[in-house]
Amino acid sequence: MDVISVITTKRDRGRLSDAQIDWVIDAYTKGDVADEQMSALAMAILLNGMDRAEIARWTAAMIASGERMDFSSLPRPTADKHSTGGVGDKITLPLAPLVAACGAAVPQLSGRGLGHTGGTLDKLESIPGWRAQLSGEEMLDVLSSTGAVICAAGDGLAPADKKLYALRDVTGTVEAIPLIASSIMSKKIAEGTGSLVLDVKVGSGAFMKNLDDARELASTMVGLGTDHGVRTVALLTDMSTPLGLTAGNALEVRESVEVLAGGGPADVVELTLALAREMLDAAGLKDADPAKALRDGSAMDVWRRMISAQGGDPDAALPVARERHVVTAAATGVLTRLDAYGVGVAAWRLGAGRARKEDPVQFGAGIEIHAKPGDPVKEGEPLLTLHTDTPEKFDYALASLEGVIDISAVGTTYGFRPIVLD
Ligand code: URA
Repeated sequence: MDVISVITTKRDRGRLSDAQIDWVIDAYTKGDVADEQMSALAMAILLNGMDRAEIARWTAAMIASGERMDFSSLPRPTADKHSTGGVGDKITLPLAPLVAACGAAVPQLSGRGLGHTGGTLDKLESIPGWRAQLSGEEMLDVLSSTGAVICAAGDGLAPADKKLYALRDVTGTVEAIPLIASSIMSKKIAEGTGSLVLDVKVGSGAFMKNLDDARELASTMVGLGTDHGVRTVALLTDMSTPLGLTAGNALEVRESVEVLAGGGPADVVELTLALAREMLDAAGLKDADPAKALRDGSAMDVWRRMISAQGGDPDAALPVARERHVVTAAATGVLTRLDAYGVGVAAWRLGAGRARKEDPVQFGAGIEIHAKPGDPVKEGEPLLTLHTDTPEKFDYALASLEGVIDISAVGTTYGFRPIVLD
């Protein structure tokens, strides 16, 4: 087999054979196919697509590139969720302990933020002492003793994806449905969860900007999971405006703890409960009541135990940024748009995100949101508070907020209920 013929097959809109796919994934993982060759192939796939059978084989080859985890020794059914990523998407933080409090085991392998989207591990690392890196044994210990664990995937899990995702990130080849679907599902299937709920984001702050693409991504992933024996459901949910009232690491942890304490913004609570119900259903725990677990404190108890088990202090003060800048409403009326992408880029520029994988994040940096689309606003009143340790970045962050906020004399109705695909 030679790599040029694999690249030219796809460049010329052909189908890759099973043998070509198995060979190229294996050779790339071992270093026998160079990054520039794989990036040419990724670009050909982005431009010319893959059919469902090619995607299934590509996913199977990425799973086979590494080890598979096994949670069959646990007495509880396993349930996991994956979000395709967005701005202010802190849902994993309250969701994992909530679903565990209702009887499932939640092995949540999570990632870091890159670009304008935040990452669950960066958020949790703002809790003093908390550790993302666990051995397989430690992960199983935390899962058995608390019911939930949120940690980084080990190097052995789908190593082909680890290499390919990093390459796609720097070659403009992230936004390809076959590559996103196979990347996410290879990790989730290798992780060994019995059931999986996918939160596929749609809108300016998401990879999928429109409903048709999001539906295609969701149904591709549901098909891959189902074919591998994982009960898989997808929800399509709105990412045209940030989720909740915060974007930024410690700010989002604070908001998640509010949700676990029975409060928090309505959209975060609604989505957390919708995903929890789907996860519990998929895990065969239909009678569990997640709303009650938020009200009676049992979800909060699991959160505290889970954070402590990973070295964190759930009572420690969270980092606060040194400087603030308030953005006020330019007119009186109804806020009709607060664009997720613009807010995400601003939070990232303030220091909440990183430009390169090895960059540190500022835990206190980010944005507090004082009004959401549909809310009445008054000229001169605060709309956003920007937080950073590097105030010289305020102008840079403010530039990304230009054209991101619309205020109109007449309101419209916002948001859409989650659409469920299974
Ligand atoms: N998340 C992933 O894990 N992979 C992708 O390709 C996109 C988002």
